[in-house]
Amino acid sequence: MKVLVVGGGGREHAIVWKLSQSPRITKLYCAPGNGGIASLAQCVDIKATDIEGMLAFAIEQQIDLTVVAPDDPLAMGLVDKLQENGLRAFGPTQKAAIIESSKVFSKELMKKYKIPTPEYQSFQKYDDAIAFLDKISFPVVIKADGLALGKGVIIALSRQEAEKALADMLLDKKFGEAGNRVLIEEYITGPEVSILAFTDGNTVIPMVSSQDHKRAYDNDEGPNTGGMGAFSPSPYYTPEVAEYVEKNIIEPTIRAMAEEDRTFQGVLYFGIMLTSSGPKVLEYNARFGDPETQVVLPRLKTDLLEIMEAIIEKKLDEIEIRWDERAAVCVVLASEGYPGSYEKGVPIEIKEGKPEILLFHAGTLKTEQGFVTNGGRVLGITALGRDLEDAVGSVYQNIGSVYFEGMHYRRDIGKKAEL
Ligand SMILES: Nc1ncnc2c1ncn2[C@@H]1O[C@H](COP(=O)(O)OP(=O)(O)O)[C@@H](O)[C@H]1O
Ligand SMILES: [Mg+2]
Repeated sequence: MKVLVVGGGGREHAIVWKLSQSPRITKLYCAPGNGGIASLAQCVDIKATDIEGMLAFAIEQQIDLTVVAPDDPLAMGLVDKLQENGLRAFGPTQKAAIIESSKVFSKELMKKYKIPTPEYQSFQKYDDAIAFLDKISFPVVIKADGLALGKGVIIALSRQEAEKALADMLLDKKFGEAGNRVLIEEYITGPEVSILAFTDGNTVIPMVSSQDHKRAYDNDEGPNTGGMGAFSPSPYYTPEVAEYVEKNIIEPTIRAMAEEDRTFQGVLYFGIMLTSSGPKVLEYNARFGDPETQVVLPRLKTDLLEIMEAIIEKKLDEIEIRWDERAAVCVVLASEGYPGSYEKGVPIEIKEGKPEILLFHAGTLKTEQGFVTNGGRVLGITALGRDLEDAVGSVYQNIGSVYFEGMHYRRDIGKKAEL
């Protein structure tokens, strides 16, 4: 079987790594892939958002299954395009991916189906949004409706900050079309957990829980990033919490999407905050999260290809999904300056790691001289351990197996897990 994975970050490396263990796959491609993925799959130089290029490649190579991992091609309808051309694709259709690509849509869905989420109002006009600020207290959360590379959410501590965020989005179009509509949302607090779930639109099977670290520096300080590390499981996600979330959030969401004629098939990610008044949904992602995938997939024992095919064929109820009891931790090694501007092309030294260590490349390029940096987040080191403490110890002991000039990483990944 020939399989193509669309994307080229740490998440895609983890997906390709897992699929490469599937005995039925004879050829793996990844577009565009990266330096590390190149050792497991043939990398093809097509951008993830080049819908026509991707379709042409899949037709030409007679790809049996295309796995669409990133948000943009899903929102642009790559899965629909492939299916219309008689090709099998894993991921939600454009109609279903709207659960991520429009935050206004997802809030209205939650309101209609009584799924717990912070209170909100949506606005298209700047003056209306400003007038609303008179009626509320601060802090408040301002969100751009569309995909904004993780930069479209502002926690405004004061009215002044809220006005600036609204002006940036609605008047100055800082986020382009993604900011044509905005949400003003109630600010809530509590630990955040990420729950990814496999679903064929009817059956839904949650994966093991995880937590990520979005801020650039230790103790959750500094600017937001694409993610500096993750761990699994989350100690906050107890069996009681899981039962509540499945009954009141996960299952109702899958049913709601089917009822709206937007049946969701793929991986649905639930960003959940555990507040003093119960778990609430912050957002949905229509795909695997990054870097959560780098701690969740190493714990998956079942063949990922079997699960993906069962989802496409709507037979997920026939599959048993098994997990490794061990904990996993992933620490991201970033370029100097990230998430601001950074250099590319810095040589990377990689020594042979221990067998319990997995190295997932995020932004690397393979050259004749060896690997060089090619992005802000360069690599992720994942370790498995008896428990979180053990996995944290192991990951930090092995950081020395990678070096590049300016390498920056957080030293407190997994510390949020201390209850
Ligand atoms: N209502 C809220 N109250 C408090 N914090 C929030 C709220 N909504 C979002 N956040 C914080 O902002 C982060 C990003 O918001 P999210 O909705 O996940 O958007 P995105 O991932 O698309 O940037 C969350 O992980 C959370 O830390
Ligand atoms: Mg988020």
